[in-house]
Amino acid sequence: MAFQIDELKTKRIGVLMGGLSTEREVSLRTGKACADALESKGYVVARIDVQKDVAKRLLDEGVEVAFNALHGRWGEDGCIQGLLESMFIPYTGSGVQASAVGMDKVAAKQVFAARGIPTPPSVQYASFADLERKGLVPPFGFPAVVKPSGEGSSVGVTIVRDEKALRAAALEAGKLKGLILIEKYLKGREIQAAVLEAEALGAIEIVPANEFYDYSAKYQAGTTRYLFPAPIPPDQYQRACATALAAHQALGCSGATRSDLILEPSGAIWILEINTLPGMTNASLLPKIAAGKGIDFASLCERLLLGAALKG
Ligand SMILES: Nc1ncnc2c1ncn2[C@@H]1O[C@H](COP(=O)(O)OP(=O)(O)O)[C@@H](O)[C@H]1O
Ligand SMILES: [Mg+2]
Repeated sequence: MAFQIDELKTKRIGVLMGGLSTEREVSLRTGKACADALESKGYVVARIDVQKDVAKRLLDEGVEVAFNALHGRWGEDGCIQGLLESMFIPYTGSGVQASAVGMDKVAAKQVFAARGIPTPPSVQYASFADLERKGLVPPFGFPAVVKPSGEGSSVGVTIVRDEKALRAAALEAGKLKGLILIEKYLKGREIQAAVLEAEALGAIEIVPANEFYDYSAKYQAGTTRYLFPAPIPPDQYQRACATALAAHQALGCSGATRSDLILEPSGAIWILEINTLPGMTNASLLPKIAAGKGIDFASLCERLLLGAALKG
């Protein structure tokens, strides 16, 4: 059952931020921006820096509805969602299962493939030893992209052009969270499309100065250009939006998601991954895309809050 605005204004809203993941700093910025915005709309907000005692904090603060501004592990992967379900506290964003599948690139790609949503050909290995046993040349050849299935922010992502580089990259990826995923490298334009509930909001083109959209391109100001709306032909723009919406629905996501896509020169669109808790700082891409639809930052936060529910 969805909330009404009047009802939510009588509730104590806990904005969950920070957390224990490597994306803590970005989450603190997201959380502050969202808490400020909700207060500006007249909501009663408790700012919760999530630590191991989060269950106690939620009770002590009398939180009745949770606004999830966490990123990364424990916040984006179904863990906090499971805790909130168990405490019967309605929360924003995706539920336990969609969050857990969305965080795992291998699992998400399997769902996309089953639903006919194009995702690059790939193979995966449980460990580096498993990879060495089975052979170091992927069936789709080189170049290939090596990534750990359970990380984000391009951590552990490497483009490789031969066996030697693949071996080195896989050794590193094997130390990080999840399986070792090896994907066919697709040369094309990098597009991200955002979805809010059942609607695709729009698509942005990312033009990194580096070889690909790596960690520094994501977080060092001035290294990447963002073009909104993505300057691509209308039919491709529509298909990018439709792909993101299909991915959102295939995983059963709620709230807002942002999907990473590659647009090949042929016009083919491929999904790399879906992000179930996109950044919400003032510089983030989701707010930029929403603004293009006439949804300002505070209204976007309110729309997310209105979607708070127990999701099972
Ligand atoms: N198969 C691929 N082909 C081309 N570029 C890729 C591919 N996979 C990843 N990349 C590049 O690496 C970046 C990060 O990969 P992504 O799968 O989105 O993981 P992350 O969760 O770390 O963002 C992408 O934004 C893109 O620039
Ligand atoms: Mg990505």
